[in-house]
Amino acid sequence: MLGKLKFWKDKDISTLSAEKVKKGDIPNHIAIIMDGNGRWAKKRALPRSAGHHEGMKVVRKVTKLANNLGVKALTVYAFSTENWKRPKLEVDYLMKLPEEFLDTFLPELIKENVQVRIMGNKEALPQHTKKAIEKAVSETRDNNGMILNFALNYGSRAELIQAVNRLLHDVKNNSTSDEITEEQFESYLMSNELEDPDLLIRTSGEQRLSNFMLWQLAYTEFWFSDVLWPDFSDEHLLKAISEFQRRGRRYGGI
Ligand code: IPE
Ligand code: IPE
Ligand code: MG
Repeated sequence: MLGKLKFWKDKDISTLSAEKVKKGDIPNHIAIIMDGNGRWAKKRALPRSAGHHEGMKVVRKVTKLANNLGVKALTVYAFSTENWKRPKLEVDYLMKLPEEFLDTFLPELIKENVQVRIMGNKEALPQHTKKAIEKAVSETRDNNGMILNFALNYGSRAELIQAVNRLLHDVKNNSTSDEITEEQFESYLMSNELEDPDLLIRTSGEQRLSNFMLWQLAYTEFWFSDVLWPDFSDEHLLKAISEFQRRGRRYGGI
């Protein structure tokens, strides 16, 4: 009985604060460095894969809430160009996660009008991973709701170098002028269809970028939390956004 009462109380609190948060400025683009899956599992004497699996469920929850709040784009860092350094067993598991996630979640994403995108070097992904993601991208192509952008095999330095090489190529072929503007340069980035993130969230207590969106985060507001990604709840997202709403963004002005 008591448990039941508590359940309803918690639910009311989160509904209330979502409504409150909705009254303020909602960040158009939120980027998340989802960190701490391994430590979450270790604390429970579970294999690291259990942490990744639990973390996947959180992506589902956060996508729903962000979409309901009116966020336009949500970028989640799922696998970095440096994560290949991990043991093969873990990498193999991480490469299976997108399929598992999309197998269970794609119908819901379609229903909720979410558009799935991917940012990263797709060519180096295993065939089965690539296939699952391309299917999700194509099946949600006509949706016009929130963009759910997976940074998968993504590294910002690789992204910047690729942009420079493509630019050089176009300059050599005279298909672009050799006087490059910021806007032009941005059009060569993997995030070219997205606005810069307004809010960056990193969980697990680490306060670094780990090669994530170095160009795009120039004027982003950062929110760090000690919570491990599998424990990240709706309340954490609401807290991050409500703190964002209290920040004064000046972009160098006064
Ligand atoms: C984040 O959790 C997920 C990925 C990097 C793929 P970690 O796996 O980095 O978890 P910790 O940092 O070891 O706890
Ligand atoms: C960053 O987390 C990459 C992802 C969340 C996918 P890491 O756990 O790989 O970052 P470091 O190694 O602690 O910097
Ligand atoms: Mg980590």
